[in-house]
Amino acid sequence: KQAKSMALSDVMTRANDFYRHQLRSAQPAIAYLKGRGLTGEVAARFGLGYSPDEWDSLRQVFPDYENDVLVESGLVIDKSEEGGGHRKRYDRFRGRIMFPIRNTKGQVIGFGGRVMDGGEPKYLNSPETPLFQKGSELYGLFEARQAIREAGYVLVTEGYMDVVALAQLGFPQAVATLGTACTPIHVQKLVRQTDEVIFSFDGDNAGRRAARRALEACLPHASDNKTIKFLFLPKEHDPDSYVREMGAPAFEAQIREAMPLSQFLLQEIIGENDLRTLEGRAHAQFAAKPLLQALPASGLRLQIVRSVAQATQTTPAELEVLFELEKPVAR
Ligand code: CTP
Ligand code: MN
Ligand code: MN
Ligand code: MN
Ligand code: MN
Repeated sequence: KQAKSMALSDVMTRANDFYRHQLRSAQPAIAYLKGRGLTGEVAARFGLGYSPDEWDSLRQVFPDYENDVLVESGLVIDKSEEGGGHRKRYDRFRGRIMFPIRNTKGQVIGFGGRVMDGGEPKYLNSPETPLFQKGSELYGLFEARQAIREAGYVLVTEGYMDVVALAQLGFPQAVATLGTACTPIHVQKLVRQTDEVIFSFDGDNAGRRAARRALEACLPHASDNKTIKFLFLPKEHDPDSYVREMGAPAFEAQIREAMPLSQFLLQEIIGENDLRTLEGRAHAQFAAKPLLQALPASGLRLQIVRSVAQATQTTPAELEVLFELEKPVAR
């Protein structure tokens, strides 16, 4: 066996080169990307590619298709692993637009692949590998780093297309979580890059739920010198569709009007509760407890406790006892 030593990262790089090369001659894929308004320039910036609609097109790049490193990379599926009897291998990504996912060093560590028709699943992603942990990687971060520094904030979206479309239309400071919820590890990575994080999820219910989970992931990292905001788009839009239909200035306005974390948090706490009733106020306090417990002691937490106290007709001191909040410790 030729290249037992072939590193995972080399496999990913070579596969990406192959997919990019394939895109040049894949007319339907080019038409698909054009139909979505993308220029060749932005496609090149993100290294977009195309995986041919064949079972083993990667044989062209890896003559040693039987090498287990290909299975380890997630690019090749080995059916015998699923108890399928005789060994059979085939490409995971077939007939899809390929979005390479890079780590912060710029190495390709995984892919997202989109079908061009209504096929399922719409997006197929690389499985977790020693190189690729979904809960900590952000699509587009490598490409966005300089722009994030220049803009002074990062936009966090749900999707590959959101990142690419925003970059094309004047917002290169965007990244995406990879079809997973935003985790505290994501947030930690984001606040290390910049002082302001603006979440911009889809306007639908799934996006709303994603925002709620992002809020929870942010609480441990909320501090007085970081700004975290949430931008809520109209129900029928995601950032890609919004910026294309409404234009960059309209999206700019959405960014300016994004809701600060404290306001979103208070809205979530009060929820449907009727604060005119004693039970409604108690329910709101019940909802507030785990959220406020997740906030580190800070000026921000003090302000929020005050607002909750006021809304629920208690005092901050009473709430601190009820919520078992630890006092800030002098260090
Ligand atoms: N996603 C996924 N698998 C799916 C559907 C979605 O991994 N079957 C992830 C992808 O990262 C996708 C993101 O979740 O980009 C958001 O999903 P959705 O809003 O449905 O897709 P869009 O990004 O809007 O994709 P498009 O505009 O191409 O339809
Ligand atoms: Mn073939
Ligand atoms: Mn969606
Ligand atoms: Mn979309
Ligand atoms: Mn979407």
